[in-house]
Amino acid sequence: MDRAAAEHRITELKAILWENNRRYYVDNAPVISDFEYDRLMRELEDLEKEFPEFQTADSPTRKVGSDLDAPVGENAEPDSGGNFVKRAHRYPMLSLGNTYSIAEIEEFSARADKSLDTAFTYCCELKFDGTAICLTYRDGKLYRALTRGDGVNGDDVTENVRHISNIPQILHGDFPPEFEIRGEILMPYDAFDKLNRFREDNDEAPFANPRNAASGSLKLVNPEEVGRRGLMCTLYHIPAQSIAFDTHDEALKAAQSWGLPISDERRICRDINEIKAYIDYWDKARKTLPFATDGIVIKINELSSQRALGYTSKSPRWAVAYKFKAEQALTPILGIDYQVGRTGAITPVANLAPVQLSGTVVKRATLVNEDQMRMLDIHIGDWVYVEKGGEISPKLTGVEPSKRSSGALPQPFPDVCPDCGTPLVRAEDEAKAFCPNQDGCPMQIKGRIIHFMSRRAMNILAGEATVEQLYSLDMVKTPADLYDLTKGRLMTLEGWKERSAERFLDSLQATKSVSFERVLYALGIRYVGEQTAREIARHFGDIDALAAASVEDLLQVRDVGEVIAQSVFNYLADARHSIEIQRLRAHGLKFSIEEQASPVSDKLAGKSIVISGNFSISRDDMKKIISDNGGRNSSSVSGSTSFLLAGSKPGPEKLRKCESLGIPVKSEEEFLQEFGIIIDAGISKDNEEQQLTLF
Ligand code: IVH
Repeated sequence: MDRAAAEHRITELKAILWENNRRYYVDNAPVISDFEYDRLMRELEDLEKEFPEFQTADSPTRKVGSDLDAPVGENAEPDSGGNFVKRAHRYPMLSLGNTYSIAEIEEFSARADKSLDTAFTYCCELKFDGTAICLTYRDGKLYRALTRGDGVNGDDVTENVRHISNIPQILHGDFPPEFEIRGEILMPYDAFDKLNRFREDNDEAPFANPRNAASGSLKLVNPEEVGRRGLMCTLYHIPAQSIAFDTHDEALKAAQSWGLPISDERRICRDINEIKAYIDYWDKARKTLPFATDGIVIKINELSSQRALGYTSKSPRWAVAYKFKAEQALTPILGIDYQVGRTGAITPVANLAPVQLSGTVVKRATLVNEDQMRMLDIHIGDWVYVEKGGEISPKLTGVEPSKRSSGALPQPFPDVCPDCGTPLVRAEDEAKAFCPNQDGCPMQIKGRIIHFMSRRAMNILAGEATVEQLYSLDMVKTPADLYDLTKGRLMTLEGWKERSAERFLDSLQATKSVSFERVLYALGIRYVGEQTAREIARHFGDIDALAAASVEDLLQVRDVGEVIAQSVFNYLADARHSIEIQRLRAHGLKFSIEEQASPVSDKLAGKSIVISGNFSISRDDMKKIISDNGGRNSSSVSGSTSFLLAGSKPGPEKLRKCESLGIPVKSEEEFLQEFGIIIDAGISKDNEEQQLTLF
């Protein structure tokens, strides 16, 4: 490559990497895979080595990507905007050199052999795929928590971190008066799946992976909501200046004895062969871990040798990360469907030539929204990479340009609704296009009925095919129409028998005891998810007070901002919605908190309970029983857990943790008996078959 071409490519690569740093660290919504990012970074590093005259101090090869939610002021004033105060790190928070090649790990080890003249060992650890955190303890108390930020200044997230259950507020044992310890905030897969299901239900973009979910959750403005996200922490580094130990391993052992969460999966390796054996083992075994890891980290264990090797501007010379490549498959796009959600949001979904990936056949992958589709620059007939990390749904992570035929046209995004033909609208600040034909678009109407009937809303025993049938026969156009159906009428329809009609009508009858907050959620008001519906229901108490509320009144509700307040106000101001609510009310649905039984008891007050496995009722209902009786649901086992409530097939990790921390484990039966809790017959049984589909 000549100088001019190199300069051009370096400028281009820097811009691409800056942009992707922002998407990764600030928006928590990456659009390229880690592998592709690392490949571009390596290309830039190589070019800068070959043409050092084009190297600049601000190059992404020299500066760590920044997660700060606002830039730090010129003179590094700590508090310069954003939701969090910015504070300087005592010791810079650096990144790690990484590689996907074992040969480069061999080189790292050979370099260490050559540079160090005393005997040394390696400490191999998992590379946790979360978001970095730096904790300071003063006199045994959690004093401060900073994100990595730009490596020099971090966002102060102390209050949020206090709500992460396995981070101790107070240490025990022989801890130093003040020290820093660094590690990772993670979102375990079960919490991630739950959060994304919730977001999808509420037409919010799901997080791409647990890492993004963890870092997005850590930066929430409401610390209690952070507590509800099920985050956990693992710590792996005490800056050598702040402690007096001989080895990294000893420092971690000591930190564990003070009550800090340290992984037990690290190993001391004496040579490259032991390192390779560790890598081989975890390449497979990591798939059984309850949280995401993206590689392993190899550190020189002796702190004197670490000091001798020192740092580059961006990373330590005494450590390197070996990254596992996410399983990927390359396959052509056969076509794109544009799905219309119940709120009218359009989601492009790619139909793929079936391809094997991590043991399953992948045929479809979401493209999330119009922006994402443009960012990936999808052309008709493109071959694309699909990836499956820990998350359940496969992601389309990139296009293979060499397989694009010349003259291939960019994939157009529709101008009109694929279902009803209404021109789509897209607000400036929205990533999604919408069909505005709320009351005439069949997909939206059916989507709202399906949402109303869904398990987390009214839990009515029928599937999408039933909704399709009742809609196409003009029998059900709104949820209230469901209550006008009769057994006689249903039995005249194809596929219905006396028994199925009875079960369906019984489940409709049962909705009359569903709480006001769930009824409010079932209405499907845009942006009103389960949590928001609960807050609104509790704040106003009944639908009449809610209907009389102004936008300002709505803004008084916890977690309700402008967008939600306006959405609720508009919904209730619409006469068609008032009529629908009146009809549902006349059919006996609950529109007031008073009509509900009061919270059951405070039998579990002060208890922090982790549940795991399957129960005779759904896990959500079990959690509700816990909270209704004054207990606190926690997603991971820690020193402060009161007990693990274990159903059938509990998670082995959780059981192991309980054993090691001496936390009691109770069966469902023991639990119900000990606390005198009776399961209400109205609570749904956790049985997938209950979603009866008649075809
Ligand atoms: S040590 C001075 N150990 O990976 C460097 N980092 O891609 C100290 N990470 O910035 C970092 N697991 O956020 C270290 N066992 C581990 C790790 C780990 C994950 C993260 C960390 C780092 C990033 C680099």
